[in-house]
Amino acid sequence: MDVTMDKIIALAKRRGFVFPGSEIYGGMAGTYDYGPYGVELLNNLKQSWWREHVQKRENYFGLDSAIFKDPKVWDASGHTSGFSDPLSECRACNTRIRVDKELGKIGVTADEKMSEEELGALFNEHKAKIKCSKCGKSDFSPVRAFNLLIKTNMGDFTGEGDTVVYLPGEACQGIYLNFKNVVDTTRAKIPFGIAQIGKAFRNEISPRNFLFRTREMEQADTQFFVKPNENKEPYEKIKKERWEWYLRLGLKEENLRWKKHENLVFYASDAWDIEYNFPSYGFDELEGVHDRTDYDLTQHSKYSGIDLSYTDPYTGEKYIPWVLETSVGLGRMFLAFLSDAYTEDEIGGEKRVVLKLSPELAPVKVAVFPLLKNKPELVAKAREVFTALSEHTVCEWDDNGNIGKRYRRQDEIGTPRCVTIDFDTLEDDTVTVRDRDTGAQERVAISTLTSIL
Ligand code: GAP
Repeated sequence: MDVTMDKIIALAKRRGFVFPGSEIYGGMAGTYDYGPYGVELLNNLKQSWWREHVQKRENYFGLDSAIFKDPKVWDASGHTSGFSDPLSECRACNTRIRVDKELGKIGVTADEKMSEEELGALFNEHKAKIKCSKCGKSDFSPVRAFNLLIKTNMGDFTGEGDTVVYLPGEACQGIYLNFKNVVDTTRAKIPFGIAQIGKAFRNEISPRNFLFRTREMEQADTQFFVKPNENKEPYEKIKKERWEWYLRLGLKEENLRWKKHENLVFYASDAWDIEYNFPSYGFDELEGVHDRTDYDLTQHSKYSGIDLSYTDPYTGEKYIPWVLETSVGLGRMFLAFLSDAYTEDEIGGEKRVVLKLSPELAPVKVAVFPLLKNKPELVAKAREVFTALSEHTVCEWDDNGNIGKRYRRQDEIGTPRCVTIDFDTLEDDTVTVRDRDTGAQERVAISTLTSIL
């Protein structure tokens, strides 16, 4: 089976999972809207993540911090000075390229720590081998570091735009800002974690590959606070837990791999990515798991003037905790699960596309069909079943077209079960339950439906 990104994008559009942002105005690069089934899948991913990382754990606490933050936050975090991508422009057609990515494509590694000058020199050495993806020419402007923070203003009533605030370049900063609040208001004792799902915005030079690199994103983050130097064991545990979470929700293990960061930023102790084998372009970062030492809380202590150190309630020892971070973009996660579930097979001699999503993630859990829509007694009975099931789970009603077509439609959105109400139902209160993956059909009593589903 040849799963391409084009097929995934086509299915996402055709079945109402994802639409291009501002489409009726011609589309806006790097933005997407989640449609009726997309928002269900996205919410299921978030809910599953939240349940696992907050509700099922004693030592993790949830948070939802404000998007707007004091601009000094981004000075403290290093984003105003160092959060940039190296940019160059094709002199022939003005297409902008991300220099590190283009170098990577020809096998040259651009070190994350390189200065603008160093990268410029590396680019000059190799740029003859790089061609513009749009016009094919090889004539580029000098490399420039391009800051990714998106600026706006707030409470600026002068119209002079001198009160710049930044949209968050990463969602996790809200967690550091509230570290002390969480310690003071809960029974949090180190080691403990704070989890958040929040929006982030980046002025990406070249948004690409559908939901993979967008300018607006949501990130699911956990920050686990530990005593200095007591990081190794929990870090390995966290890595294992994140890997297993993906497998439990159905990603195929052969499509996942670990990648170690070779060139760590100066404060980091260790960093790994979980990579996913995305259709058409292969393995790339899905999630980052970072061992960040005391950098974040130290910086915010320094810039805010508030001491963010922690005092051990048993020993009285005082220290700035170290942070172990997991961070994944919901859009990338969505794309990975959608791609992994995408299957083309044949059932009863007919070709079909089916999304083999785990039932926990499927946007619709069960579809209910009256065999014929012009038989009021069938429709009334099917409505009864639909209403009863809707109390327990997410149901969809469909009375359009023949049953085969209705099955195909539900297969494409990943509905695990379809229930058909026919003339026998009126006699014996049984219905046909059809399984998405095998196509097998079973006759069951209506009274047992909820427990079976
Ligand atoms: N707080 C850490 C942080 O933001 P990151 O590696 O820059 O680290 C974390 O981002 C995750 O966010 C990535 O692994 C990826 O899943 C997602 N992500 C980053 N940039 C993205 C973009 N432009 N579009 C979609 N997802 C993105």
